[in-house]
Amino acid sequence: MRYLIGIDVGTSATKTVLFDEEGRVTASASQEYPLYQPHNGWAEQRPEDWRDAVLSTLKQVVADAGVPADEIKGIGISGQMHGLVMLDEMGEVIRPSIIWCDQRTGREVEDMLQILPRERWIEITANPPLTGWTAAKILWVRKHEPECYERCRHILLPKDYIRYILTGDFATEVSDASGMQLLDVPGRCWSQEVLEKLDIDPALLGRVYESCEVTGTILPEIAAKTGLSQATKVVGGAGDNAAAAVGTGVVKDGTAFTTIGTSGVVFAHSDRVTIDPKGRVHTCCCAVPGAFHVMGVTQAAGLSLKWFKDNFCEDYVEQARGLGVDVYDLINRDIAAVPAGSDRLIYLPYLMGERTPHLDPDSRGVFFGLSAIHTKAHLLRAVMEGVSYSLRDCNEILKEMGIRVDEMMACGGGGKSPVWRQMLADLYRCAVGTVEQTEGPALGVAILAGVGCGLYESVPAACERLVTKAESTGPSENAERYEAYHRLYDELYLALKDSYRKLADL
Ligand code: XUL
Repeated sequence: MRYLIGIDVGTSATKTVLFDEEGRVTASASQEYPLYQPHNGWAEQRPEDWRDAVLSTLKQVVADAGVPADEIKGIGISGQMHGLVMLDEMGEVIRPSIIWCDQRTGREVEDMLQILPRERWIEITANPPLTGWTAAKILWVRKHEPECYERCRHILLPKDYIRYILTGDFATEVSDASGMQLLDVPGRCWSQEVLEKLDIDPALLGRVYESCEVTGTILPEIAAKTGLSQATKVVGGAGDNAAAAVGTGVVKDGTAFTTIGTSGVVFAHSDRVTIDPKGRVHTCCCAVPGAFHVMGVTQAAGLSLKWFKDNFCEDYVEQARGLGVDVYDLINRDIAAVPAGSDRLIYLPYLMGERTPHLDPDSRGVFFGLSAIHTKAHLLRAVMEGVSYSLRDCNEILKEMGIRVDEMMACGGGGKSPVWRQMLADLYRCAVGTVEQTEGPALGVAILAGVGCGLYESVPAACERLVTKAESTGPSENAERYEAYHRLYDELYLALKDSYRKLADL
């Protein structure tokens, strides 16, 4: 038997899964790490934490699986997108990574629009300058920490830092590189024009591969530490959303998924470059060679629920510990008893600003309509509904762009909740399904590794063979009621827009 490993460097944890070539999980391990928020709207993580989590979970899955190391043919790496990792000439991390949901770069985005007109940015990078994307973060470090920028010799994305640790190679691949705002997305290569205009030395960036191309093999010291073979190949891999697409079989036109992880994403495959002229959703290269995807992003999806649970649900956490069950199962049980609309309570999920559809780094979270009848279960349900209203906004834009979606798949931690999937089906007014394989991005990049190592003929052929549909939910009688709540939800942002600006200036 031949085996493949998928590593997903997420925001809350790294998950490493060893699959056999039929896509069955042989061993799996995950390790959590902290998110640092030194100021309101800032978000950082330590690349060394990702490295330690990857090495220890790799060691664990190799030991648990107990398969001969030379039968593990390939590794794919997936990761949170857009994060900035800066290394010095010794390959050491210079400063913590400024990650995808950080919103400190409003000024840098304005500078970028002075350097090149918005239309030109969209022509080249398929997206307008965005606060969460890597280019603006590079400009921020150059302006505010010139000594760090001076020492910087390599700029990498989170998963590409892991590639460097495992193989010693400085490289990236098209799907994740699309989110740096330095890539010529239609051409699938670094944009000389953008690099010149921003005065960024191309030597700082790694070589760009397609997602299933082999970029290197395991270093001897890493093989010794983890039990892997030096012959195991590492492929390009993918940004977490492009990877989840492969893991849920979303690899051809007409297919789409919603993931509710720390962020929430509505993602549709597209064989052609399709761009929203208003820049509200992102267009990126996808992991299928030559193809693209469009995605709308809710900044704080699972992050909203986790924030609420961590700060206000010690009772649930303790009860779950006592019963030996998942705390989210208890939450799901209780919110199922609250009516749709949470008895006139609406949550705006803008804890980390918002991308789709507002592109507003200054917006912040709101509970609207709080009354003395509301209980903790109402607030929890309102959080999940607020995230769903935001995901509906993402889906509407895809529809507006003429992207045809026959059925929406759901994945990520939140996608496991039947109540949350029902909310999505009601708000999207279409069937929301799941796949049997729940490993999402980890399976996606293992498939990419399988293609790169010659186990599978192509990405779509591998998905056809390994990914199978499970259940599907259609809209319920709540759909009408949610329509009215969603309209009011959309009005609330417009009413608060100017107040958000004032709040940011306080
Ligand atoms: C996508 C995005 C997030 C991160 C973290 O643009 O920022 O989905 O990839 O998961």
